[in-house]
Amino acid sequence: MELDGLLKWLFETALASSIRENDLLFPLIESIHVLAVTVFLGSIVWVDLRILGLANNDRGLRRFAKELLPITWSMFVFAVLTGAALFASNAVNYAHNLYFQLKILLLILAGMNMMVFQMWFSARAEAYDPAHAARLNAVQQDEMGKIRHKLHQISFFWSGKWSALLSVLIWITVIALGRWIGFSIQPTFAG
Ligand code: HEM
Repeated sequence: MELDGLLKWLFETALASSIRENDLLFPLIESIHVLAVTVFLGSIVWVDLRILGLANNDRGLRRFAKELLPITWSMFVFAVLTGAALFASNAVNYAHNLYFQLKILLLILAGMNMMVFQMWFSARAEAYDPAHAARLNAVQQDEMGKIRHKLHQISFFWSGKWSALLSVLIWITVIALGRWIGFSIQPTFAG
């Protein structure tokens, strides 16, 4: 009940009203949302493919991800701001829409998956560095290092590849849900 009051307040703000009342604003903001989402997800999936060993294998993961990070974060901010503006224009209906609820839930899950990967595997980051294997071969006595490296190469779970696969699956679902909201919601321009 309290949440509905808050949503109604959001719906009645000047920004939400102008998005509803202007024919061009909603499609314009949604286009920016989609563009931001495209670049944001492009950068994430690129890193996921690197983790899965399907692209850019000649590059160290830590450096590769660091180079893409400014694009990922700036586009994420754009996606959230434009998403929030679209949401405000029809807040009560979006909040009660199952596909919207699932989308937000999956966004949280995607964030948690990233955090787990970061924490669990930051200690193993060198295994994703192509120079590391060469170093290990040069140093005869580091048998444990070699075993760990072999494990990284053959184990889907040890290497964190499960996290990258989960990430790709979550983001594909978020995109599908984002589209589905539009098909299932009472339109913003109902009146
Ligand atoms: C950052 C990850 C996000 C992704 C991948 C994503 C994806 C999408 C996609 C694919 C669409 C459909 C666009 C179309 O119909 O052509 C969409 C629409 C939308 N998104 Fe997002 N979105 C994200 C974040 C957010 C956030 C954080 C919010 C809310 C705070 C949000 C709210 C909306 C709303 C309200 C729509 C319009 C649905 C409609 O057509 O009525 N999005 N999003």
